[in-house]
Amino acid sequence: MPFQVVVGAQWGDEGKGRIVDWYAAQADYSARYNGGDNAGHTVTVGERIFKLHLIPSGIIHPQVVAVLGNGMVVNPHRFLEEIEMLRQADVPVTPGRLRLSFAAHLITPAHQALDAALEARRGKASIGTTGRGIGPAYTDKATRRGLRMADLQAADFGARLAEAVVEANRSLDLLGAPQLDPAPLVAEFGEYARQLSPYIADTSAELDRALRDGKTVLAEGAQGTLLDIDHGTYPFVTSSSTVAPGALTGLGLGLAAAREARVTGVVKAFQTRVGAGPFPTELFGDLAERLRGSGVHPWDEYGTTTGRPRRVGWLDGVLLRYAVRLNGLTELVVTKLDILSGLETIRLCTAYRSGTQRLAELPFGPSDLSPFAPVYEDLPGWQADVSGVRAWSDLPQAAQAYLDRIGELAGIPIRLVSVGAEREQVVPAP
Ligand code: IMP
Repeated sequence: MPFQVVVGAQWGDEGKGRIVDWYAAQADYSARYNGGDNAGHTVTVGERIFKLHLIPSGIIHPQVVAVLGNGMVVNPHRFLEEIEMLRQADVPVTPGRLRLSFAAHLITPAHQALDAALEARRGKASIGTTGRGIGPAYTDKATRRGLRMADLQAADFGARLAEAVVEANRSLDLLGAPQLDPAPLVAEFGEYARQLSPYIADTSAELDRALRDGKTVLAEGAQGTLLDIDHGTYPFVTSSSTVAPGALTGLGLGLAAAREARVTGVVKAFQTRVGAGPFPTELFGDLAERLRGSGVHPWDEYGTTTGRPRRVGWLDGVLLRYAVRLNGLTELVVTKLDILSGLETIRLCTAYRSGTQRLAELPFGPSDLSPFAPVYEDLPGWQADVSGVRAWSDLPQAAQAYLDRIGELAGIPIRLVSVGAEREQVVPAP
């Protein structure tokens, strides 16, 4: 299948990085289509742990060309920092295998300052953003005053950047936040213009050509379905199109690319979210602590980008079915099954209850989930450590039954299950 989209089926942090890494072994291109360095994709290869925020995680495979699509917002400082980090880890990074869309938007320190000031202003109603300037950068894009990669080369770029900072200062002033000095930023971005220029390309045309030539393009979604600007738990969402169809606009591909697409939804064996917003199956107390982990392992439930403890809960089948529909998922990958080992009972939310009504589907999208209480199905847990299992038939019967029930609820097959952070800790479905 030449075009595959890997997308988070929950609120992000489903473990997409390592799943992309798995599929990227067979890919020619690995492309990100949304968001910026708010994402945190972790890939563990032996002793080495790669934490990528901006560059597609497929880059770790030497045959892959990594693409940052037009749907992204890019912090140039972070971009160069990640290139350096990869080179230090002996991952070859050259302009030939790292391509940056000319139409991707720039994130500047003004966007980061605005992100922080707007969150502070919201107070108790804050969204809990990652503070990376994502929302303000997309705001500038939507209000048509954003600066794009192509603009870096323009003769008047410095003047336009200075103007953007002056404009941001007006808002910062109203928000009671400190002013920014445009002059050092203009000098700093002049240097970025020089360093970024070899990577900037018409990635839409390149990907189109690649697909026509029968190459495999793996689109890597950041965040998750429920954080989508249109379809997520608005307003507690990010500012981009996270869902699989966003891969087309975010990479500049036509509908033809989607015709035969493989759309892989990554779903954690339980549910997590960072930041504020509704979470019907949320757990608290000892069980929550148990699922979250102690924070000493990279796979514990603490944000890769912000280090914040994640909220945790039981898997929500209603929201999963919603994700199947919104993305047009063709298959599922279930991650972190190993974390559930040792539980007596595992609860799975199969429907919502509102008064006397039982609902299998969301009546009005996920923005307001407050009227609903989860309806749980209790399944027996398993005691065995499954982290060493590599064959489906070696999984405990109870684990197989839990996975079967997830597949049944989703209405699509499970292709792969991960049982640990290591590259090889996966169990293909029969
Ligand atoms: P922003 O994308 O920084 O504006 O944050 C908006 C919301 O999306 C917040 O609730 C963040 O915690 C959440 N968010 C953004 N990126 C990620 C991610 O990669 N994983 C999980 N949550 C994220």
